[in-house]
Amino acid sequence: MPDIRFIRNFAIVAHIDHGKSTLADRLMEHAGAVTARELRAQMLDDMDLEREMGITIKANRCSMNYTYNGDTYLLNLLDTPGHVDFHYEVSRALAACDGVLLLVDALQGVQAQTVANAYLALDAACEIIPVINKIDLPGAHPEDCALEVEHVLGLAAEDAIFTSAKTGQGIADVYKAIIERVPPPKGDPAAQLRALIYDAKNDVHRGVISHIRVMDGRVKRGDKVLFCATGTERIITEVGKYFPKPKAVESLAAGEVGYLLASIKTIADVSIGDTVTLANDPTDRPLPGYQPPQQMVFCDFFPGPGTETPELREAFEKLWLNDSSFTYETTSSDALGIGFRCGFLGLLHMKIIQERLERESDVNIVQTAPTVTYEVKEKNGKVYHIESPSELPDMSIVEEIREPMCRANVIMPAESVGDVLKLSLERRGLHKKTEYLSPTRVMLTFEFPLGEIIYDYYDKLKSVTRGYGTADYEISGFRADKLVKLDILVNGMAVDALSVIVHKDKAQYRGRRLITRLKKEIDRHQFEIPLQAAIGGKIVARETIAAFRKDVTAKCYGGDITRKRKLLEKQKEGKKRMKQVGMVAIPQKAFMAVLDPGD
Ligand code: GTP
Repeated sequence: MPDIRFIRNFAIVAHIDHGKSTLADRLMEHAGAVTARELRAQMLDDMDLEREMGITIKANRCSMNYTYNGDTYLLNLLDTPGHVDFHYEVSRALAACDGVLLLVDALQGVQAQTVANAYLALDAACEIIPVINKIDLPGAHPEDCALEVEHVLGLAAEDAIFTSAKTGQGIADVYKAIIERVPPPKGDPAAQLRALIYDAKNDVHRGVISHIRVMDGRVKRGDKVLFCATGTERIITEVGKYFPKPKAVESLAAGEVGYLLASIKTIADVSIGDTVTLANDPTDRPLPGYQPPQQMVFCDFFPGPGTETPELREAFEKLWLNDSSFTYETTSSDALGIGFRCGFLGLLHMKIIQERLERESDVNIVQTAPTVTYEVKEKNGKVYHIESPSELPDMSIVEEIREPMCRANVIMPAESVGDVLKLSLERRGLHKKTEYLSPTRVMLTFEFPLGEIIYDYYDKLKSVTRGYGTADYEISGFRADKLVKLDILVNGMAVDALSVIVHKDKAQYRGRRLITRLKKEIDRHQFEIPLQAAIGGKIVARETIAAFRKDVTAKCYGGDITRKRKLLEKQKEGKKRMKQVGMVAIPQKAFMAVLDPGD
């Protein structure tokens, strides 16, 4: 049983791509937790999709023993995800830590998520150790980066450590800082058991694995425990640690992190943030827990050709066992039939869920454009949230529509400030603050309607700053504005999945843009198709798709038969992601056309 004075619990936080996974690998390798031979590149990123998308999605962890000045320390590392959609996972992991390594790329310097992560660490009362990484790169300027950290975050530049996670340079200094600067955990092994569930995952063979940090007391196999929030009692079948492979241990005591198994079948039965205590000696001081993650982005998934609704439901059920941070419920659309309304933490989260559904369950789906939650206040005083424009009641009873707002920090080179301001004002951003990180780099703070930036603000920001701009946002509440619902009619039929809530001043322009886009996306049919945009029954824009069946083989009559077949196959492929609305086939891409902000 390790002495609590020799335990250190820490996480690595950083802006995306600044080298978290590489540093985690190096730390494990130098502590002998894995040998170089065992070490697949970035072995912590173990999901296929993570490898492909090159980002860490799910937090991973590893315990390692490290000898320093003759004493052996137990260092518990928690790897955290880096994308803005996964803030809540970062804060969960931090609640189990006493310190963080704040990693900064020595070429890129402080970025938007460096700042956001540092604030999360401060909120969690973690000791912050700035680590300037990638010093092996030509052009690296670690001293300047350390000054930026001091400037924005008030952490002394001389306390920063310089490393190369790639070559291993400076790694010994990192261990030294963890041991000397991260405080040992507080807690009393002799007190009543209080353990925090900071994460959980589903394992097909072993059921739910709950990741815990023991705050007080001790937990071992055979203990009968009580889960305070859910009120359920279970017998512990195993406790263990990650080295980084899971390994059963005798017990886990105050200050330690590890996992527990207790014959829990599905992740829905575990409440993340819950306190585990002994059933026959329960604590009356459960831990504060977490706010549940808030879904802010919504879209509908409908079964595509060849997929039935029950199949799609089954696919959702399966995926939900692994990721309960998205929501799904049955919805029906006049035009598209029965489908599912889903809620996500952000756009990247949505994309990951969509890909996992198709990949892991082999279903064919048609997805509608994402929207954000709106708050509606009726004239009779009733206030509620809607997750899709189609849920808006008749406007005659609506007093106001409120949209979700966020506070965003955007970091860029000083010469891009004008372009970023222009882009942000077009997105109805309110400029709040300008701060110089260094003579050449600036941080602008804005207040934005979330709906204006969730789609392509990041891409646009990258392009106006030639790749150097970064942004991070935090939801700040709802605010009323002049918002209207824009309806789209295809062949005289209103397609609810295509309607959007937009600002009144932009509505007519958006309507025109939208149907121009739709005209490009929808193939010609054997009849004429009118496309209309309407606000409150008033048509504001109109286009017509002329009649004529598009025959991709028309140009190769009499010609090469294999070429003809190939073309027809391609056309069939394109049809897969179509949805029949009345007599008109609308391709998947058309549903996304509503996202075009029309800059
Ligand atoms: P996410 O999980 O996506 O947030 O990324 P990450 O922060 O875990 O970064 P990762 O470790 O995947 O590193 C990003 C890239 O930087 C990879 O190509 C690494 O090989 C490279 N890299 C990491 N550390 C160093 C370093 O010290 N020097 C050099 N030259 N490259 C590094």
